[in-house]
Amino acid sequence: MQVFIKKDYEEMSRKAAEIVAGEMRKKKDHFVLGLATGSTPLGLYKELIRMHRDEGLDFSKVTTFNLDEYCGLAPDHPQSYHYFMDENLFNHINIDKKNVHVPDGMAKDLEAHCQEYEKMIRDAGGIDLQVLGIGGDGHIAFNEPGSSLGSRTRVKTLTEETIEDNARFFKNIDEVPKYAITMGVGSVMEAKICLLLANGAKKAEVLAKAVEGPITAEITASMMQMHPRAIIVVDEEAGAKLKRKDYYRHVEKMVDLLKK
Ligand code: PGA
Repeated sequence: MQVFIKKDYEEMSRKAAEIVAGEMRKKKDHFVLGLATGSTPLGLYKELIRMHRDEGLDFSKVTTFNLDEYCGLAPDHPQSYHYFMDENLFNHINIDKKNVHVPDGMAKDLEAHCQEYEKMIRDAGGIDLQVLGIGGDGHIAFNEPGSSLGSRTRVKTLTEETIEDNARFFKNIDEVPKYAITMGVGSVMEAKICLLLANGAKKAEVLAKAVEGPITAEITASMMQMHPRAIIVVDEEAGAKLKRKDYYRHVEKMVDLLKK
C-alpha cells in the first residue's frame, strides 16, 4: 500500500488526477476506469476535465464502470449516480457514452442485472484503475459493515448512517433510497489498481482503521491492505490519525529521489 498525505483537498485531488492520467497514458489503446460518486472525488473529476481541456487528455478509448447506483432512481433523476457522473465528468470530456456503465437502478430483474454488470466488466478486460471513496462507516462502494469480503455485485440495504449521510442531497430523509446496487468487495479487489481518496477530519478515524487496523468486514475499506496495488491519497485532516504518517512521507520522498 502506498499512502500519500497531501496538504489539502486541492492537492489531494491533483495527486489523484496525476495518478489516473499517468495510468491512462500508459495504456492508450483501451483503458478501463472504475469510478465513484460522492463529494470526495469531485476535485479529481474537475482536474481530469481541466487536463482534457488544457492538455488534451484523451478519453475516447476509455471505458468506465461506476461502483454503484441507488435502486429506484432513473439515470435522469438528479440524485441518481448516473446523473451525477454526467454532470460532474462525462458531459465535459470526450468519452463515448456507449462506453459508460453505471448499474441500472431501474432494472426489472435486479439480480440478473448485477450478474450482467459483472460480465460486462469481465468482457471489457477488467478494471485497470478503480477510484474509491470511504464512507463514514468504512464502506467502499456500498459495501456496508458486515458485507462479505468476497462479495460480488448485488443489491444492498443501506445502513441508517449512510442514509443520513446522503440525506443532504435530498429534500428530506424519506426520499433517500434505502437500497442500492453495488459492486462487491471481491469485485473491487479485482481492479488492477485501487485508488482510495479521503478528505476532511470526519474521515480521520475510519481511514486510520482501514489503513492500519485489522482487516475486517466491519470496515470493508480495510481490504485495501490485501490489494497488491492500493494507493491511498488523503488530505492532512483525513490523515491526521494515521500512526505511520512520518514513514509514509519518508517513502514518498525516497521514491521521488529514486526517479531522479
Ligand atoms: P463522500 O462519500 O465522498 O460523499 O464522503 C464517500 C462514500 O460514501 O464512499
